Amino acid sequence: MIILGIETSCDETAVGILEIKKTKAGFFINPLSNTIASQIKIHRKYGGVVPMLASREHTKNIPIITKKALEQAFGSKKDIIQKIDLMAVTKGPGLILSLLIGVNFAKTLAWKWNKPIIGINHLEGHLFSFLPSLVENKKNFFSNSECKKIFPSICLLASGGNTQLIYVKGIGKYKIIGETRDDAAGECFDKGARILGLKYPGGPSIAAEAAKFEKQDTQYTIQLPRPMIDSKNYDFSFSGLKTALLYLTQDIGPKKVKKYLQAIAYEFQEAIIDVLIEKTIKAAKEFKTKSIILAGGVSANKRLKEKFQEKLKKEKLNIKLLVPKLEYATDNAIMIALAGFFQYIKQGKESFDWRKIEADSNLRLQE
Ligand code: KG4
Repeated sequence: MIILGIETSCDETAVGILEIKKTKAGFFINPLSNTIASQIKIHRKYGGVVPMLASREHTKNIPIITKKALEQAFGSKKDIIQKIDLMAVTKGPGLILSLLIGVNFAKTLAWKWNKPIIGINHLEGHLFSFLPSLVENKKNFFSNSECKKIFPSICLLASGGNTQLIYVKGIGKYKIIGETRDDAAGECFDKGARILGLKYPGGPSIAAEAAKFEKQDTQYTIQLPRPMIDSKNYDFSFSGLKTALLYLTQDIGPKKVKKYLQAIAYEFQEAIIDVLIEKTIKAAKEFKTKSIILAGGVSANKRLKEKFQEKLKKEKLNIKLLVPKLEYATDNAIMIALAGFFQYIKQGKESFDWRKIEADSNLRLQE
């Protein structure tokens, strides 16, 4: 089966083509193309995504990116449209102006090409983003026995718009057990970077400064709060941490901020990841899961992955850490195509109809 995925929930226009084969023993997962037009440069000067601009860029880029994805997947072969069996498009959550472009474009193609299409929850897509990386060195095969070693799992989904802990009983069986009460972890990185005068997106900028600090031996120490780290639930809160950073910079003044930028970035990053790790491992223990799945843009953070491994090792926990490769950690359409495939298995493609798809900026993950 060949699936065309389309993703425009925020500031990335992404189209991916995925070949997937189901056998008795599992699945072959083979991404044929994963094309992305990033808008980072456009939004950088505003320190965050400007919805109107994002929507305008999606409108401009989506036909170009779709053509590129088809060319990359099929080269100059004839009748390529006939090869597509299924389409999947992100219908939410996200910025409504961005979602509408992808949804309407995909619905129009599905109507014109007469293809079955399904609307996908962006967060469900992120949940599957570890899969292409996992199968890469296994001849692209995801076996049923490997699946049994992964689930039940806890997924830490941390992106620019969401931070959630999801109990994943099996493919398609989810329960949100905790989420942020205010800012998302990625948003905290982005806003923190803005306070420190670092460029957007904040995650990679802060991580780069923090990495320089690790290598040096400075006497300057600061302590930022780890909000809700000991709370009895699995919720998060990051807006207070951002405010604490703001007050710190106001207290010490711009000269010292510049001088100790790396130390501050380091402590800020540690504060975010300590909370994420603590709560995720606590949930994995309580729900007795076999693995932890990291998903969303923040899962690209090197220090987060290292510290997770260190903590699992220190506590002698036999829990597998599953992490997407960089290209699948941030927004992409292969993860949407994957979610489309698993929905197809669940529902059957007869029920897929472009008329049923509506963009929903506040869409929740269905249990
Ligand atoms: O999943 P994503 O591409 O978009 C959505 O929000 O859906 O995530 C983007 C977020 C941004 O907030 C960005 O700062 C963060 O992921 N991010 C990182 C890193 N790379 C991206 N955060 C921490 N460390 C990184 N290396």
